[in-house]
Amino acid sequence: MTRVRKCVFPVAGMGSRFLPATKASPKEMMPIVDKPLIQYAVEEAVAAGITDMIFITGRNKRAIEDHFDMAYGVEAELAARGKKELLELVRGIIPKHINCIYIRQAEALGLGHAVLCAEPVVNREPFAVILADDLIDGEPPVARQMVEVYEQYRCSVLGVEEVPREHTRQYGIVKTDGGEPGVVSAIVEKPQPENAPSTLAVVGRYILKPRIFHHLAKVQAGAGGEIQLTDGIAALLEEEKVLAYRFKGKRYDCGSKLGYLQAMVEYGKKHPETGAAFTAYLKSL
Ligand code: G1P
Repeated sequence: MTRVRKCVFPVAGMGSRFLPATKASPKEMMPIVDKPLIQYAVEEAVAAGITDMIFITGRNKRAIEDHFDMAYGVEAELAARGKKELLELVRGIIPKHINCIYIRQAEALGLGHAVLCAEPVVNREPFAVILADDLIDGEPPVARQMVEVYEQYRCSVLGVEEVPREHTRQYGIVKTDGGEPGVVSAIVEKPQPENAPSTLAVVGRYILKPRIFHHLAKVQAGAGGEIQLTDGIAALLEEEKVLAYRFKGKRYDCGSKLGYLQAMVEYGKKHPETGAAFTAYLKSL
């Protein structure tokens, strides 16, 4: 039985919805309170027992690599000033047993292409995909929930949630047999509300069987002229079972300004350092 040991983080996207903030720094480095989005994503993968973090990066993404490396200068400075707690915080960003692997996506050809770039490292193993934009507050963390579903059924699992019909054009939308988890019979990328097969949207969490690579290599550019992961999954489900799992947790679409602000407020209210004062401040408004 192959465990899910690897997680792919597609982080090559330009982040145009957050310009000018993302002009010179990656959108995945935008913080929610005091941690960048990509760190929440990696922590979720670690909590799922994943050990190999595979980042599909591109131009202007150096900050992500630096974030997970040891920062000698910062550490020396904190040590010299006796700032023990901060030193621990900086050192503990990623546990020692975790491997970080960086692959460049030389051209922005779409999410499906980004995932395909991980094939030489993933090989023939099942793997997770986490889109850091979709921050999900779940207990246990959602990647862990999904690995458990995978271990039970041994097939690909898509994290899904209900969305308002007018939002179907922002997501991959699935049709299922209604089970929990449901067997996916169709998946469409960003359908117009009138054409959507349901209102069950795929959010940024996937456990995929390696057979997906075979299909991604053949997929033609689809919605938006990009090689879509959704189209690869559509081909995969013709051959093997794919499940849709309604995760337990609250998702924030941090790829949108509104979702990002909502996450900031909710995580700010819960933060051990700022929580009480921030909650009081919100009440005073
Ligand atoms: C991507 C996928 C889409 C999925 C969404 C989840 O779209 O293509 O199927 O529903 O992530 O966030 P994007 O948001 O990158 O346009």
